[in-house]
Amino acid sequence: MEFLEKFVIPQSSEHIQLLHYLAMLIFFLFVPFISTVLGGAFLSLLFRNKGMKANDKNYLNFSKEVIETVTVNKSLGVILGIVPLLTAVLIYAQLLHLGNTTAVVYLFVSFLLATAGLILIYAFRYSTKFTNLFSSLDEIKHNDPEVMNEITELRNASRNVSTKTGIYGLAFLILSVWFFTSGVTIAAFPKEWSEGNFLSILFSWAVIIRFLFFLIMAFAFTGGTILFHYFYWEGGKKNLNEDYKEFIRKTSVKLTLYSSLALPLLLAVILFSLPDAAVSGAVFGYSTLALLLMFLSYNLLYSMLKNENAKYSGVLYLSLILIIMSVIIKDQLAVDNATEKQAVILSSKYEEMMAQLTGEGSKVAAVSGEEIYQVRCSSCHAFDHKVVGPPYKETLPKYEGKLNELVAFILNPKQNNPGYPPMPNPGLKPNEAQAVAKYILSTYKSK
Ligand code: HEC
Repeated sequence: MEFLEKFVIPQSSEHIQLLHYLAMLIFFLFVPFISTVLGGAFLSLLFRNKGMKANDKNYLNFSKEVIETVTVNKSLGVILGIVPLLTAVLIYAQLLHLGNTTAVVYLFVSFLLATAGLILIYAFRYSTKFTNLFSSLDEIKHNDPEVMNEITELRNASRNVSTKTGIYGLAFLILSVWFFTSGVTIAAFPKEWSEGNFLSILFSWAVIIRFLFFLIMAFAFTGGTILFHYFYWEGGKKNLNEDYKEFIRKTSVKLTLYSSLALPLLLAVILFSLPDAAVSGAVFGYSTLALLLMFLSYNLLYSMLKNENAKYSGVLYLSLILIIMSVIIKDQLAVDNATEKQAVILSSKYEEMMAQLTGEGSKVAAVSGEEIYQVRCSSCHAFDHKVVGPPYKETLPKYEGKLNELVAFILNPKQNNPGYPPMPNPGLKPNEAQAVAKYILSTYKSK
């Protein structure tokens, strides 16, 4: 992904924050859309298969309507499925700059797979129209058995092609979601950037659990979307026969209820498996919010199942959307926390660049690392013995060749050495931190 580095522009810390918000907004569009297309394609294929075996009109009709409902139209597939993913690739390339960018590679692969998957799913959608045409031909009884045979053969052939298109499309989408979760997950686990390899990450627990969560959430959300579409939107669908309506209601309520039963447990496991660097109060807060909304959804679903109605379809849909949004915010905050160091590096480059643009470049160079050390650090640090902080001779060898990491530490100290109190933030500007880091790193051996 070297070529992506070309798109990386030094960013001020405000810009970086903005990028995190943009990533959230983009996922708000992408995740619900791809979830319903995936769930809808699955349902459509399932009921088409059932319908053909049992020769059941309700099943076949549902199969056709479901895929039409979730895909809406072709341009939506591009706007909500393809464009957001490509944007996410670019945003992550910025955010994870200089970290090993495998996360970006996963997202890029996910983008390619989603594009292929969506094209096939749309082909499937339009082919269902075509195959239904043959189904209506069934009703014409032709006297000539040869003509009848030909019609049946054509019908079966077209159904086969169409089913295959659907199955491949679904498979591509599922793979795409797998890579997508890998990308977003690995971004929150900076340790794995250097340790994990491409395959071991795909099959790691952290990724598999999130992938499962995504799939199950997709089914729950698809059920909710169908209920919303048939029973709430514009007052519910008119002119449906009762039998069919009841079948849709029952199928969707059950699908949503049963698939969402596992969600709270998975969410809890995901939360507790996050690395320390990624966890914060807000990450917990949004997870709790998602949990509460899950319990609200259960109640709504249970009531609809028991009372045999679809009264809460609107509220349920809203609640499911809010669950997805809280989970996205939680994930993005975790990435934000985990990539603080990348953010510091990127913004210090930005300040350097701005200083040069405004003609202050020479002043930057003039900031003396030694002076800063004397004034701001020497009260706590000496090179060869302990003062308040550890001697540089002990702590600096691990920063050899890692100037950026040292700068990041000075700008935003973390507790690294047991037996010492945490270092207070010295409040330096990025260029000052750079200067003092260069100074101590280049001189500690000779002191
Ligand atoms: C108020 C005291 C204090 C001041 C001022 C201070 N430090 Fe520290 N520093 C500490 C302490 C305490 C630690 C040990 C914290 C830890 O890593 O657990 C530390 C740790 C460090 C480390 C080791 C980091 C590591 O990863 O092991 C470096 C490098 C460092 N300081 C550099 C600086 C620089 C450069 C300055 C001046 C800009 C500075 N410190 C100012 C107290 C201070």
